[in-house]
Amino acid sequence: MPPHPSLVSPLTIGTHTLPNRLFVAPMAGVTDRPFRMLCKSLGAGYAVSEMVTSRKDLWHSLKTSRRANHAGESAPISVQIAGTDAAMMAEAAAYNIDRGAQIIDINMGCPAKKVCNKWAGSALMQDEPLALEIIEAVVAACAPHGVPVTLKMRTGWSLHNKNAERIARAAESAGIAMLTVHGRTREQGYKGQAEYDTIAAVKAAVRVPVVANGDISTPEKALAVMRHTGADAVMIGRAAQGQPWIFGDIAHFAEHGRHRARPLTLEVRRWLLDHLHDHHGLYGEFAGVRTARKHIGWAVRALPGGEAFRAHMNTLDQVDEQTRAVSDFFEQLSLQHPRLPAHAPQQDPTDAPEGERALCVAN
Ligand SMILES: Cc1cc2nc3c(=O)[nH]c(=O)nc-3n(C[C@H](O)[C@H](O)[C@H](O)COP(=O)(O)O)c2cc1C
Repeated sequence: MPPHPSLVSPLTIGTHTLPNRLFVAPMAGVTDRPFRMLCKSLGAGYAVSEMVTSRKDLWHSLKTSRRANHAGESAPISVQIAGTDAAMMAEAAAYNIDRGAQIIDINMGCPAKKVCNKWAGSALMQDEPLALEIIEAVVAACAPHGVPVTLKMRTGWSLHNKNAERIARAAESAGIAMLTVHGRTREQGYKGQAEYDTIAAVKAAVRVPVVANGDISTPEKALAVMRHTGADAVMIGRAAQGQPWIFGDIAHFAEHGRHRARPLTLEVRRWLLDHLHDHHGLYGEFAGVRTARKHIGWAVRALPGGEAFRAHMNTLDQVDEQTRAVSDFFEQLSLQHPRLPAHAPQQDPTDAPEGERALCVAN
């Protein structure tokens, strides 16, 4: 496949210049600060935080305050907000700017749970006037601070109501600085394949940068989606779980038109141990060990002995034990496999809806 060097060229959002066009998707329960920093250190040019609710009563919850913790994260700090009330969303934007947000992203892409008896996230695409009211209010709240507002959405509400292009035009007129489109409708959840024609139509309809998202799991696919849609960047979610070096892999492929070597097993061990160290630091021992299990599980799932190791991991509940077990597993593996054996392709996308529904909640 011919190279596509523009994928590794800088992209500007407002006053921020991103080093490349390879973005980590916001994933509630996954893209916390340690994971975002890991992805950035391994080649991602940009990472959006997990969403923060617009409900004030939850801002002081442990979960929200962890999500709003950006200590040590490289700029720009981008925070996603979710909600259904324009004034509350504007307030949430201002609150997060006070806590360090440099870009505010509005969530119209995720089947978030009900907020104040209305469905937030992608459900807003069904109510275009409300969607626009929210966009205008958030842009107005962010403008005095010079903070750009971006929007993440799906292709539409349903197969017969793909309104992404109309919302994109209205959002651009209202001052949105960048649009991300996940190539599925809300009705689809994660079923079927993402389609990229609607993303191409959105790209053709607006002048602000457009980011293509959905089912991008290999360097070849990233380049194909860029070519098909004409998008300015790609965003990767599930395929980064357990293989955060995918951003560096895509960057290499985009630049040279060929794959780089698999990472050294001991290199992967180092990345995972550093990630665990950060993760335990943010969550503390009790929650940290438990929430780290899914990251470890993703990292080992396709490796020889990975399933048995995953089961063993669930019996360990101390930081030291967990760290030592991970370290030993990769050290042993490196004796047989100096380079990490090939990963299985991306998880079955039909696994995602429940995972997301459980995690993609607005608090
Ligand atoms: C566990 C999980 C949590 C997610 N949480 C969010 C979220 O908080 N906000 C959002 O806009 N999208 C969320 N998404 C959707 C992703 O950002 C992305 O649009 C989707 O997974 C498609 O990209 P992919 O095929 O590369 O995974 C979530 C997805 C998953 C799997």
